[in-house]
Amino acid sequence: MEVPASWALWPILASAGRTRTARAGPRRRSPILVVMPPAKPKVAFVCQQCGFDSPKWIGRCPQCDGWNSFVEERVVPPPKGRDGGARAPRVAIPLADVPSSAEARIPTGIGEFDRVLGGGIVPGSLVLLGGDPGIGKSSLLMQASARLSGRGRILYVSGEESAAQVKMRARRFGIDGDGILLLPETDLSTIIETIRATKPVLVVIDSIQTMTSDAIGSAAGGVSQLRECTARLLEVAKGEEVPIFLIGHVTKEGAVAGPRVLEHIVDAVLYLEGERFHSFRVLRATKDRFGSTDEVGVFEMSESGLQEVADPSGVFLEERGRGVPGSVVVPTLEGTRPLLVEVQALVTPTSFGLPRRTANGADLQRVILLLAVLGKRAGLSLGQHDVYVNLVGGLRVREPATDLAVAVAVASALRDRPADPRAVFVGELGLGGEVRRVQRLASRLREAERLGFERAIVPAASARDLDGSALEVVAVKDLREALARAGLSDGGRPS
Ligand code: TYD
Ligand code: MG
Repeated sequence: MEVPASWALWPILASAGRTRTARAGPRRRSPILVVMPPAKPKVAFVCQQCGFDSPKWIGRCPQCDGWNSFVEERVVPPPKGRDGGARAPRVAIPLADVPSSAEARIPTGIGEFDRVLGGGIVPGSLVLLGGDPGIGKSSLLMQASARLSGRGRILYVSGEESAAQVKMRARRFGIDGDGILLLPETDLSTIIETIRATKPVLVVIDSIQTMTSDAIGSAAGGVSQLRECTARLLEVAKGEEVPIFLIGHVTKEGAVAGPRVLEHIVDAVLYLEGERFHSFRVLRATKDRFGSTDEVGVFEMSESGLQEVADPSGVFLEERGRGVPGSVVVPTLEGTRPLLVEVQALVTPTSFGLPRRTANGADLQRVILLLAVLGKRAGLSLGQHDVYVNLVGGLRVREPATDLAVAVAVASALRDRPADPRAVFVGELGLGGEVRRVQRLASRLREAERLGFERAIVPAASARDLDGSALEVVAVKDLREALARAGLSDGGRPS
């Protein structure tokens, strides 16, 4: 084989290159001193809803789809990593030897609150309580503080209300305030020093959005401030072994950063929800590092503060009109707790343009899907009708097990015939109209029985797992069958 001439030249060229570099030697330093202007603080545009940051302003956040939520903020460089330098190894503790007193809980004595917290407050935990403005967050934590004040000092930091305002509310709720120390302050460093000095058993920060740390130049309520303040409070909670509750407002687009950006920093996240003009409030845990997030607590607002509702099903059904078309009761499950809720539907002819669909307490997209299933699988045409669905009591239920009850309520409203008032309906609906299995049917039916119901229309697949019930259990496979058993098929009578 003949070697091309260019190949033969390679080693020569390569060595020539090397010699040239070697001869050039190190570069000489320039003697001119250049004075640089001080580095400009780095700024970024941060989405106030989810914390996404971008070097440029954008109208719509690519992460959370929020509109007009970007605000310019100073960016704080993350703390320097600790990777440099050698370290001595530490002794890891065997899991079995960790003292279990580390997870002892302090019950507040407010049963519904403790239930959501998994039995009580964990020392050294940082808990975020979120909710719409005016929903009752400050009230709930003031009441919890009053209950715990027997155990030691409580530090209630109020960045929103003056001491006099807080006192007024406390007096209205019958709280004398012994043992509760009030600190109207928004400067985080001052607050932390006060926590160290007073050694309280519980700290409430009302609200985290009003706090400012001087390490950050931006205004209170911005994402950087929120994150910094929360991270520093987490350190204090762990270091001082004191539980800290943060109140956070959930706000509409962009005004103040929402608690969502804090969810991953804190140990537990609770949300207080409810309809503004209803008196019921539901406390729900969406994250809990110390326990399950299954439980909900139900409260009712009153002149003297939030009252526990021990029998929510009974309260939710109190005003039910029997034999009204469009009213159906469903045994839902909130965590491990069965709750009977009335679903109401109203169907009226559309008078103009597109038919309207409205859902209160139920998910609107789900309702629209159920209307499609009713149309296609049960032959109920709703194209010329407005449909309104409402869960009574201001409760928000997202469980698919309510599907069957919503569908039956709509069918009942459309036919203007009441569904069987002694029966409860439960089941998830598939797109084929099939009624699908639900969890924990037995405990749902026990609750229905306790409240005096006599029949239950349930998914056939779940009925098989059930061993006996005091109710008459009617197992159905699909929507048509369920409507027939409810006396709602075309011209049908109850069977
Ligand atoms: P508040 O706890 O201040 O709401 P948030 O801290 O979530 O913004 O409650 C709002 C108002 O409602 C307040 O004036 C007190 C009043 N309220 C009652 O009168 N009774 C109650 O049971 C609750 C929860 C609040
Ligand atoms: Mg408040």
